[in-house]
Amino acid sequence: MDTIGIAVIGAGAIGRTHIDTLAKMQKTGQGHLALAAVVEPGPQGQALASAHGVPCFCDVAALIDARAAQAAIVATPNETHLPISTMLLTSNLPVLLEKPVAESLESALALIRIVDETGVPLLVGHHRRHNPITKAARDAIRSGRIGNLVLATVTCSLAKTPSYFDAAWRRTPGAGGPLLINLVHEIDLLRHFFGEIANVQAISSNARRGHAVEDTAAVIVTFVKGGVATLGISDAASGPWAWDLSAGENPARFPAHDISAHHYAGSKAGLSLPDLTLWEPDDEPDWTRKLKTTRLPLQAADPYIEQLLHFVQLIREGGMPLVDVRDATANLIVLDAIRTAATKRQEVAVDLRALGG
Ligand SMILES: NC(=O)c1ccc[n+]([C@@H]2O[C@H](COP(=O)([O-])OP(=O)(O)OC[C@H]3O[C@@H](n4cnc5c(N)ncnc54)[C@H](O)[C@@H]3O)[C@@H](O)[C@H]2O)c1
Repeated sequence: MDTIGIAVIGAGAIGRTHIDTLAKMQKTGQGHLALAAVVEPGPQGQALASAHGVPCFCDVAALIDARAAQAAIVATPNETHLPISTMLLTSNLPVLLEKPVAESLESALALIRIVDETGVPLLVGHHRRHNPITKAARDAIRSGRIGNLVLATVTCSLAKTPSYFDAAWRRTPGAGGPLLINLVHEIDLLRHFFGEIANVQAISSNARRGHAVEDTAAVIVTFVKGGVATLGISDAASGPWAWDLSAGENPARFPAHDISAHHYAGSKAGLSLPDLTLWEPDDEPDWTRKLKTTRLPLQAADPYIEQLLHFVQLIREGGMPLVDVRDATANLIVLDAIRTAATKRQEVAVDLRALGG
């Protein structure tokens, strides 16, 4: 089987995770892929590329001209996702694009057109979807074990350090903020588990950090199929209650705490994640009786590796990306509704008609 050479574009926080993951897979022969190049204008690019024995390019055009890779991972700031992906796709290079799919709905819709026109694979990097925890949870929910969703609570408390905000895009409206950077993961999972979202309400605040973007928000969503979820998010609040700090997905960056961050209460039983605990009554639900707990079986795997295995499979065999550009754009539409709801202080309907179909 021919090895697929993959370039990593943007050697920042998550780009380095992808470089490490590629190097690990290359070493073991997993997926028959290899790190082929790094594209990074910052000074760390050359050092990282040299450490891995691959060329470093200052921009995507130079990578394309050099024909140095057969596919690329785009791990650059959100507002660059559309222009960089467009260059790659129109040069027939498949793309694994970090989430969120774009910084705005307008850009995401433009990207949908490019993907449709070129027919070149584009997978959006909602890596949690590739986590066996997510697959096991979805199977349990779909099997009817928790019944119909009644109430979900999702917490995401991340005490980011001041240096995290040295990168200006992370505090720039339209490009950064924890709604776009972090809550997009939670919205993606909720839609994956419970279907489309009908309405949202929200408040947001920048009182803790004083940046132009929010640092904290509380959101209420209502699902088309029924059920309501509350989501609390802050990048200025210390506490372990976040998927990122409990699922163990990226141990090199975040230690894992043995707690749960998602709680789904259904008409029959409850499910907490990422610990995959099912909370069931012996008989009919009864708040006066102790619930029995079962940890659902799990064959743990690194979601970044699983995501790359899916990416190379798409390149070799074709098929539908697990997270395609339209699906990821639906997340952005929900986020837009949340931001509008927070600004106007009113309930906002989620309108997916821009996606067609
Ligand atoms: N899947 C996840 O869990 C996850 C985690 C973190 C970040 N992300 C996403 O990944 C993207 C990058 O986030 P980050 O935190 O790593 O950012 P970062 O600021 O740490 O790194 C971005 C890097 O891209 C480089 N860059 C900027 N413009 C470029 C260009 N035109 N060509 C090549 N390189 C360029 C910058 O110099 C920087 O090194 C964002 O879209 C973010 O939302 C995803």
